[in-house]
Amino acid sequence: MDLFNPVTYAGVRRPLREAETLPPKCYVSEEFYRREVSNIFMKCWNCIGREDYIKNPGEYFTQSLVGISLIIMRGEDKKIRAFINSCRHRGTKLLEAKGQCAEIRCPYHGWAYHVDGSLRSFNAMDEARNLEPKDFGLIEVKLDTWSGFIFVNFDPDCISLKQFIGRLGDHTDSYGWEDMVTVGHRETIIKTNWKSYVENSMEPIHLPLVHKKSIGHVFASGKAGWRFIHGPGEFSIMHTITDKSRAVLPGDEGFDRLPNLRGTAADGAQYMHVNPCMTIGGDLDCMWFKNMVPEGPHMVRNIAAFCFPKSALERPDSNRILPNYMKRFYLVIDEDNNIAETQFAGITNPLSRKGRFSHYEENVHWFQNWVLDRVVGPESQRLTAVA
Ligand code: FES
Ligand SMILES: [Fe+2]
Repeated sequence: MDLFNPVTYAGVRRPLREAETLPPKCYVSEEFYRREVSNIFMKCWNCIGREDYIKNPGEYFTQSLVGISLIIMRGEDKKIRAFINSCRHRGTKLLEAKGQCAEIRCPYHGWAYHVDGSLRSFNAMDEARNLEPKDFGLIEVKLDTWSGFIFVNFDPDCISLKQFIGRLGDHTDSYGWEDMVTVGHRETIIKTNWKSYVENSMEPIHLPLVHKKSIGHVFASGKAGWRFIHGPGEFSIMHTITDKSRAVLPGDEGFDRLPNLRGTAADGAQYMHVNPCMTIGGDLDCMWFKNMVPEGPHMVRNIAAFCFPKSALERPDSNRILPNYMKRFYLVIDEDNNIAETQFAGITNPLSRKGRFSHYEENVHWFQNWVLDRVVGPESQRLTAVA
């Protein structure tokens, strides 16, 4: 199979009801993954966390993205910056996990950096010639925020985050996500390819079997009203009409409906995918998100958390209600993790083959074509190649 020849993927390029899925090799191949890293993860805006993780000057967290460790830190000027987590002397990793500091001090020879990344002091360099401290600050990566989420981009020539997000805000502005409080951060490692894991969040037809103990009923109740939207912008939405929150299990008590919801946010739940690997669940009373970060072609780190309005968490009964959300959230994630590993065990079978799409998998088809556009080349290139 010619992995980077557009003709190989002619079946995926067909309209949904005639289309074939990506061949299993795209989920297994190291070579395909390397091209995804260079053409997708090094070019796109990638969500890396929430603004409220670091509220005060000097607070930071670290996060790694396709092998690149980053420090996300708030400066004295309240601005959030992203730095490559490597000392400018001889490269030592500077910080782990999260915390707060007045300066970043290298554990090896003690070079120190201000919390805005500029070099503050160095040891034993008095005889070095032509050394300008201003040239040896931490290497900064582009960072911007949207709706309380922090995004980074490794490409200095990238489009703005605003352009990247496109019109997603039309569907989400009334939720008030930027003022929500993030709770229940949880990371899990799953033995699968990042695309398979992402695709699982883009279709509802796995719900009855995979989530029969949790949210299996949602598929049938939303059957008449599943809507699939993609763009304009780097996102897709799976929307289902409901007047009840889908974020707690049936019969469990939840928080109040969010005030001022408008448009598609007001009449149901929206499961949003932001390219390349983020899902946001917008519900009538809360929001949750998952960043499904690849750790190589065969492993995913799923970073998940919940967001609620401050007023909900300050209610006197919040200690009783909040666990209802966590119970549902972690149960569903565990169910998805189990099936993801089972699916991957089949995809890695050397004799497995490409398949076909249900019409409920419209967003999966859209996503696979998006991946191809970036890894193999845009569809127009395929037409040239075929001609
Ligand atoms: S490597 Fe950081 S001070 Fe030497
Ligand atoms: Fe699921």
